[in-house]
Amino acid sequence: MTSSVLTSRTNQFYINGEWRDSDSGETIDITSPYLHEVIGKVQAVTRDEVDNAIQFAHEAQKEWAEKSLQERSTYLYKWADELVRMQDEIAETIMKEVGKGYEDARKEVVRTADFIRYTIEEAQHMNGESMRGDRFPGGSKSKLAIVDRVPLGVVLAISPFNYPVNLSAAKIAPALIAGNAVIFKPATQGALSGTKMMEAMHRAGLPKGLVNLITGRGSVIGDYLVEHKGINMISFTGGTKTGTNLAKKANMIPLVLELGGKDPGIVREDADLHLAAIQIISGAFSYSGQRCTAIKRVLVHENVADELVKLLTEEVAKLSVGSPENGSTIVPLIDDKSADFVQGLITDAIEQGAHLLAGNQREQNLIYPTLLDHVTTDMKVAWEEPFGPVLPIIRVSSDEEAINITNGSDYGLQASVFTKDINKAFAISNKLEVGSVQINGRTERGPDHFPFIGVKGSGMGAQGIKKSLESMTREKVTILNLSE
Ligand code: NAP
Ligand code: G3H
Repeated sequence: MTSSVLTSRTNQFYINGEWRDSDSGETIDITSPYLHEVIGKVQAVTRDEVDNAIQFAHEAQKEWAEKSLQERSTYLYKWADELVRMQDEIAETIMKEVGKGYEDARKEVVRTADFIRYTIEEAQHMNGESMRGDRFPGGSKSKLAIVDRVPLGVVLAISPFNYPVNLSAAKIAPALIAGNAVIFKPATQGALSGTKMMEAMHRAGLPKGLVNLITGRGSVIGDYLVEHKGINMISFTGGTKTGTNLAKKANMIPLVLELGGKDPGIVREDADLHLAAIQIISGAFSYSGQRCTAIKRVLVHENVADELVKLLTEEVAKLSVGSPENGSTIVPLIDDKSADFVQGLITDAIEQGAHLLAGNQREQNLIYPTLLDHVTTDMKVAWEEPFGPVLPIIRVSSDEEAINITNGSDYGLQASVFTKDINKAFAISNKLEVGSVQINGRTERGPDHFPFIGVKGSGMGAQGIKKSLESMTREKVTILNLSE
């Protein structure tokens, strides 16, 4: 790790290519989830500043959209290069701000640079189409439609705390390469990392006004941003409650929402149990389960449950617990409130008869990895998203029961199916109401060019590089009426 680069300085917001203090005179303290001290401050911007940022974005967007794809690409490549160059200092900020292990934080930055580069290349291979009128009955050959994609205008990018750089750039990069401008509102706990990412962009010399960083509590400025008439599209990642409220408030504009999940690991009787145990534990507990795609419940066939439980218990015992500075897998949760919530789910399950196999130990916001067996569908932990290190095991007697419990959820992000029978895997996959099914692997978003989809309470629309480019553009048809 590099020497400390983080200061408890007051950070500025970024508007029209300049770093500024807010006229509000107010700042928000950012407290590290494991150092338990203030590591920086961000500006609480005013509504007037939001108005100005959106105005600047519209002005910049007009010129940006006129630039060739090659010119836009040059800027974005520079941004990716700057991120790679700054990877150590950004990783340290991520680690201190959201408590992610240093190596994972560094990988997040490198993954982001790769994401930006792939986005540029994908955009360069997206072509429109043309069609002749006489393909439709009674249509005329003299009509030729040219279908192209055009930018939407100003995209509002709102990101969550858990991938403060990657899930921000995953919105900003496709928006920009497609010719849009961006208003970027990071999670407040995540805004220091978001600011670092913007520093990389500033160094890359992107045109002023094109991306503006707005910091402030979502509860204070969120609705104002979302309802703003100057916003032409919203790309949001965060909790289901926040996303659902946002969808009700937004104007009639395109929305992409990536929300929470309750991904099951379905283990059939014929599964490779060693593989399943390793994948499930890594899927459930990495970054203390603070991933939308974490495996959040196990649905195991009763005939192999005892054996799987033994393997899962052995794997849990291997997890390191402690500080992200030591590369621990289990780290303090983002705040005390989140830890209280997770502890509540654990306590409720135990009180209702779940068998505790590991964990149920807590030091402030550090929750030890907790494994619960004989969880039933009456327990809250069977249905609620903990966003923390607790894994409930529900024993089932058939594939149908596993499918029903999966589909009984309000969420529909991903599911894993562990089986040696590929036909059964597909048969189950076809019946699951989720965006993606992983066969014999843990639930996860990447690689980042795969479509990433949440259904039901897990979202609306799709991410993944090509999908994001499509959602941040619209089709425009120009029809040539040729003389016969
Ligand atoms: P969150 O509390 O919903 O916050 C997400 C973002 O929304 C933050 O930037 C937040 O700002 C902002 N926000 C809050 N109120 C708002 C409002 N009224 N209008 C507009 N924006 C508002 O979620 P989180 O705690 O950061 O992240 C955890 C959740 O995100 C989990 O449920 C997880 O499953 C989900 N998630 C889903 C995906 C996915 O791709 N499916 C990926 C990552 C996370 P403030 O921070 O200032 O409140
Ligand atoms: O938290 C939600 C992220 O989209 C999960 O990404 O599966 O790569 O950890 P990941």
